[in-house]
Amino acid sequence: MSKILTIVGQRGGIGKSVTAVNLATSFALLEKNTLLIDCDPQRSTTHWCGIKNADYACNIASVLSAKVKFIDAVVKTELRYLTIMPAGFGLFQVAGKLAKLSENETLLRLFLKDVEKEYDYVIIDSPSSYGFLNTMAMTAADWLLVCMSIPQSAAVDFFDLLRCIKYIRTFHHIPLKIAGLLFNRCETKEEIQSFLDYQKLPDAKELVFNTFIPSDDKIRKSTDLKIPAALHDIKGLAASAYLNLAKEIHFFFN
Ligand SMILES: Nc1ncnc2c1ncn2[C@@H]1O[C@H](COP(=O)(O)OP(=O)(O)O)[C@@H](O)[C@H]1O
Ligand SMILES: [Mg+2]
Repeated sequence: MSKILTIVGQRGGIGKSVTAVNLATSFALLEKNTLLIDCDPQRSTTHWCGIKNADYACNIASVLSAKVKFIDAVVKTELRYLTIMPAGFGLFQVAGKLAKLSENETLLRLFLKDVEKEYDYVIIDSPSSYGFLNTMAMTAADWLLVCMSIPQSAAVDFFDLLRCIKYIRTFHHIPLKIAGLLFNRCETKEEIQSFLDYQKLPDAKELVFNTFIPSDDKIRKSTDLKIPAALHDIKGLAASAYLNLAKEIHFFFN
């Protein structure tokens, strides 16, 4: 059965899109059939997978506005096991219309019902702020990967996220759970422990992934080149960490 994971984190620049691209790439390198969905009109995920405008006349905005079928809007990448559903700028307008009905928050989940059996993993990138797209991206998943970064993250973000999960679980009756907290731009485990103590979040410690992502200039270089970090330098610090993260998550689910 396919595992659907949405990447969340309530601060811009915390590494959600970097994580979406590099985790999906790592699953693909481990020969897991992976679908990466870009749910952010900012389109970092789409760009960083090297998808150019001409490649995605159809995108998630056209799917959500019922102009094309989901399966006709996905794009193959140069990696055999990685397929992407790109975002288009028009996504923010489509979201504005759909946001009028809270039932529409389940739209992506419904579309995925038809295609999820094709994939081992579906990774969804979400925008930073709470709103329709963010809630739709979370509602589509059964699992959340929460991006955190020291000192950008704060306890209040975590409590807001728990409230949002509660809303999705009770309003949409979806068993949404946290798969784990991923610390990005972090150098040691001790740093994470002291940060969670300082933020008075000791209970969150058991949710932290063993793997953390170090600061690595090769991330910035790979985004400049518009390729996943592993395709720039598979032995790079962050690329290796994302491969370990994919293995850790795969072990968690199996
Ligand atoms: N581990 C890292 N090392 C170096 N640069 C990083 C790392 N993680 C993210 N970045 C850089 O930070 C910027 C913001 O990351 P991004 O994934 O777009 O954040 P978000 O999607 O949460 O807004 C990107 O330009 C990226 O190159
Ligand atoms: Mg992003």
